[in-house]
Amino acid sequence: MKVLVVGKGGREHALVRALAESPSQPQVFCFPGSDAIFSIAKPVPAKTLPQLIDWMVERKIDLCVAGEESYLVKDEGLANLCEKAGIPCWGPHKQSAQLEASKEFAKNFLLRHQIPTAMATVVDSLDEAVTAINGQYPTVLKFDGLAAGKGVAVCPDEASAQAFLQEVLVKQRFGEGRLLVEECLTGPEVSIFAAIIDDQYLIFTPARDYKRALDADLGPNTGGMGAVASRQLIDAALLETIKTTIVEPTVRGLIAEGLPYRGFLYFGLMLTPQGPKVIEYNCRFGDPECQAVMPLVSGDLAEFCLQGARGVLAPKLLKFSDGWSVAVILAAAGYPEITRNGDQITGLDDVAGARVYHAGTKLHKDGMWVTHGGRVLAVVATSTTRQAAAEMAHRQAEKIQFTGSQSRSDIGILNFD
Ligand code: AMP
Ligand code: GLY
Repeated sequence: MKVLVVGKGGREHALVRALAESPSQPQVFCFPGSDAIFSIAKPVPAKTLPQLIDWMVERKIDLCVAGEESYLVKDEGLANLCEKAGIPCWGPHKQSAQLEASKEFAKNFLLRHQIPTAMATVVDSLDEAVTAINGQYPTVLKFDGLAAGKGVAVCPDEASAQAFLQEVLVKQRFGEGRLLVEECLTGPEVSIFAAIIDDQYLIFTPARDYKRALDADLGPNTGGMGAVASRQLIDAALLETIKTTIVEPTVRGLIAEGLPYRGFLYFGLMLTPQGPKVIEYNCRFGDPECQAVMPLVSGDLAEFCLQGARGVLAPKLLKFSDGWSVAVILAAAGYPEITRNGDQITGLDDVAGARVYHAGTKLHKDGMWVTHGGRVLAVVATSTTRQAAAEMAHRQAEKIQFTGSQSRSDIGILNFD
C-alpha cells in the first residue's frame, strides 16, 4: 500500500509514524512534510495541490490522509480533487470542511440539528458587535474564518473586547470576515475524536489540550502547549451522553444535508453544568492531541483509514490501550506572539522511554537540528497512571535544550475537573 499524508507539523509526524508502523507496512509519502518526517516518509516533488494530485495518480497512491485542515478547503478541496482522480481520501470534502473553516456555518449546523452549543450572534461591524455584547462580560469573540488558532478571544472586560474588535474588524488581521459574539461557557474542556464514515463512527481515545501558554493555565491562548489522553478522562455515562447528544446528531446532520464525510472529526467540547456543549468542530485530528493519542492506538491504522476512505468502518483493525499518555510541548522563544528560528537543539539522542515528535524543526547542514517554528517538539510518554506518564514526559523533555525553550511544567499534572 502507498499512503500519502498531507501536512508538516507534529500531528503529521505522529500520523506518519503510526501509519508507517502499521502491520500492512505501507510505503509512506508526505507533502509538504518536514526534515523529521522525511526520516520516515518520502518527499513528493510537488509545489501545488493540482501537482500533488497529478503525482498521486502517476505514482498510483492508494490512500491520501489529510493531516492539516488548510488543504481541505484550498482550491477545489483536497478530498474533492482526490475523488475526481479516483484516489481514496481520509479527510472530508470541501463543503463538509466548512464545519471548521467557517464558525458561522458550524454554529448554524449545530443549531439546525439541536446539538448543545453556546448561543451566538453573527456581526459585520464594530457597532453590531458592541450591540450584541450588550455589556455582558466575559464574552467570547470569534473570527468566522480560519485563523490558525488565533481567531478566538475570551474577553473578561470591555477593554479586551475592544482591542480584539479593532484587530479583527478594523485592522482585518485575518482578512475580511464576519465575527461571532458568543455566550461564555464554563467548565472543563475535552477533545473527542471520531472517525466518521458516512453514517457510522468510531470514537478514539479522548484527550485534553493545555491551551494557555503558562503554568496554572495563565497567559495567552496557544495552539496547545501539551495534551493528556486516556479513555479514563471521561466516564462511561458521560461518553454515552456525548455520543447521543453530540456525535450521533452530527453524523445524522451531515447525512441529512448531503455533506460527505470520511475522516477524523474533532469535537471541542466544554463540560458545562448543563451538560457537554460543542465549542468547535475541527475536520482533522488535534495537534498536539494526536501526538498524545497515537501511542495509545495499536493495530493497523493504515488499513483502517484505507477501508474508511472506501466507505467501510473496520473497528477491529484498531485497539485502544487503557493507559495514559502525556505530551509536553517545547516551544520556541517568543511563542505564541512571535517565533525565533534557528536555535540549536541538543539532547534529542538522550531521550529514552518517550517518543519525540517534531513540529517545528529543521535539519542544519552540519547534522544538527535547529528550531523552525513556534511549537518545536512534543515529548510523549505513556504509562498505566496519569502521574507516571506525566513524570516521564517531563523528565525526558528536560533533556532537550535550546535557547529560549518554553514549556509548561504542569502538563498532565494540572487537573481541570
Ligand atoms: P476555539 O479556537 O474555538 O477552540 O477556541 C479556543 C478556546 O477559547 C477554547 O478552547 C476555549 O478555551 C475558549 N472558548 C471558545 N468558545 C468559548 C465559549 N463559548 N465559552 C468559553 N470559552 C470558549
Ligand atoms: N489542539 C487544538 C487543535 O488542534 O485545534
